[in-house]
Amino acid sequence: MTCFTLNGKPVTSQLPASTRLSDVLRNEMGLSGTKIGCNAGDCGACSVLLDGAPICSCLTAVAQVDGAAVTSIEGLHADGAIAKLQDSFLAHGAAQCGICTPGMMVAASALLAENPAPNRRDVEDALGGVLCRCTGYSKIIDAVLAVGGDTKISPRPQAGQNVGSPIRHLDGQPKVDGSLIYGDDEVPQGALLVRVIRSPHHYSSFKIGDKTGFLASHPGILAILDASDIPGRNCFGVIPPFADQPVFAETTALYRGDAVAAIVGDADVIAHFDEATFPITWTPHETMLSPASAMADGAAKLHENRDGNILVRGYVETGNADIALAAAAHQVEIHTTTPFIEHAYIEPEAGYATREGNRIVIHGCTQAAQMDRESLAEIMGMELDAIRVVPSACGGGFGSKLDVSFQPYVALAAWVLGRPARICYSRGESMRASTKRHPSDIRLAVGCDETGRLSGFVFDGVFNTGAYASWGPTVEDT
Ligand code: FES
Ligand code: FES
Repeated sequence: MTCFTLNGKPVTSQLPASTRLSDVLRNEMGLSGTKIGCNAGDCGACSVLLDGAPICSCLTAVAQVDGAAVTSIEGLHADGAIAKLQDSFLAHGAAQCGICTPGMMVAASALLAENPAPNRRDVEDALGGVLCRCTGYSKIIDAVLAVGGDTKISPRPQAGQNVGSPIRHLDGQPKVDGSLIYGDDEVPQGALLVRVIRSPHHYSSFKIGDKTGFLASHPGILAILDASDIPGRNCFGVIPPFADQPVFAETTALYRGDAVAAIVGDADVIAHFDEATFPITWTPHETMLSPASAMADGAAKLHENRDGNILVRGYVETGNADIALAAAAHQVEIHTTTPFIEHAYIEPEAGYATREGNRIVIHGCTQAAQMDRESLAEIMGMELDAIRVVPSACGGGFGSKLDVSFQPYVALAAWVLGRPARICYSRGESMRASTKRHPSDIRLAVGCDETGRLSGFVFDGVFNTGAYASWGPTVEDT
């Protein structure tokens, strides 16, 4: 039991002393304005004030705040400097997706309480522990400086008089006061927790063992779901003619992170489950981690209809580039590579599903509710009208949340067990499971005349789409 003051009121936490303060705030106190981006002290989304100083609540055991005063975003009263700070964030467009905004507001409020007129360097130092993937930071820094008096807060645009003025987001206020609901901010009563079991190998066959015996010896785990439980088509993909990704791999996992099963049950049991005890045997195969190894003679074929493990080829020709290059006044040749790029949105994939009669309703973060519906209708073997997707606020996506991610797992769990089912990926799971920007290997030859006008151009690029198609055909087209 831990007693402390929360947002000016005395509270008592009944959770174990080692529980993260962020979990106490969100799960026990019902204050979802404090966000979780990494649970590792890296992103600052979970920032709160402890006796007036900003801390990462995900790295603070609740016992450490015994007798102290904790202030979360909900306790930053919207008057005086805080009202000005909120207004300034809105005026500067400093809250874009908004998932980092509570952490930014908390850190900025601590700075302004100590130093009402900070300079740019002060602001940069004070906000340095909170990551933002959307804004590029300048707007946030300008917003804080404006409160301190260095710059002006621009007035609200007036109809007909302010072409070119920034427009305040219609959904801005709940972002700056922490009340906007993201994927993991809403948990229906009695919700079960879903945890996806993923391949620890890059390329491996597997066999799931005795499910009945496992369930009998693991009270609190109500179901193991795998490919045999999919009522419809065990396949999804953002470009339907190329769809090739299974919800659960059936016999062979094609990347480290490929889903092979899911366990569903009581939140505590599922959260603390040791995956090493899951009944599965793996038979790893020789890995292919580059296009060269996947296209090599004798390489195993990963998809039946893809000779040479090539998803798509593109060829465009106009004129004769070789002749043009030979005649060019200047020519340059470049060989360059780019790596996988993780989108690294601050909000991991999260949401829940409920079964309502013969319909499934999925709540959560997504960039493509209609595409999710279409994929889920196929996976669940249901009519489109039987699938409803209710998007929460989306704490960053940058294209990656166009892909289906958590939705089939919660939909299937809610459908099979008839109870609400939720999931929130850890940062590690989000990075393992999500699609990335395609690594490339590019060779370029460019020629121009004496004036610099391009006269010849040869481009040869190989793009690594990974184990499944996802946006590969679009990348090839562009
Ligand atoms: S620093 Fe606590 S959630 Fe990222
Ligand atoms: S607005 Fe900062 S992460 Fe999106």
